[in-house]
Amino acid sequence: MQDAIFKSRTIAGAVAMIVGLAAAPAAFASPPALAGLCASCHGTNGISPYPTYPNIAGQKEGYIAYALRQYQTHQRLGSQASIMAAVAGQLSADDIKALATYYASLSAQ
Ligand code: HEC
Repeated sequence: MQDAIFKSRTIAGAVAMIVGLAAAPAAFASPPALAGLCASCHGTNGISPYPTYPNIAGQKEGYIAYALRQYQTHQRLGSQASIMAAVAGQLSADDIKALATYYASLSAQ
């Protein structure tokens, strides 16, 4: 009897630990260094303080990466797109992946 209680507590503890570990990467994702470049316009948490600049937190990862590549290759045009073309021009494929993963993991609020 005692043994069964001990076992179920141990299992519950192990399950809690596994759940905690699985949740950790999303909750504690540290921003890639380049996110500092984005913060002035898109906010430190991906929520822009400017009315005409988009929020990017919680956006789909694939869409963020796609948009950055579109700016990089000048396939997205417009007066505000030229701002992003200058920024995206400095990014490598790995940078784009890291930034897209990071912003997609943030809460859209
Ligand atoms: C100087 C200001 C500025 C900086 C710095 C900046 N952005 Fe932007 N960003 C904008 C503006 C303005 C737009 C809207 C452009 C348009 O109209 O197409 C935009 C658009 C975007 C979009 C498209 C959003 C959508 O909904 O289509 C993404 C993704 C994005 N930025 C990501 C980034 C990332 C990642 C960084 C950092 C590497 C960054 N931006 C840095 C101003 C900035």
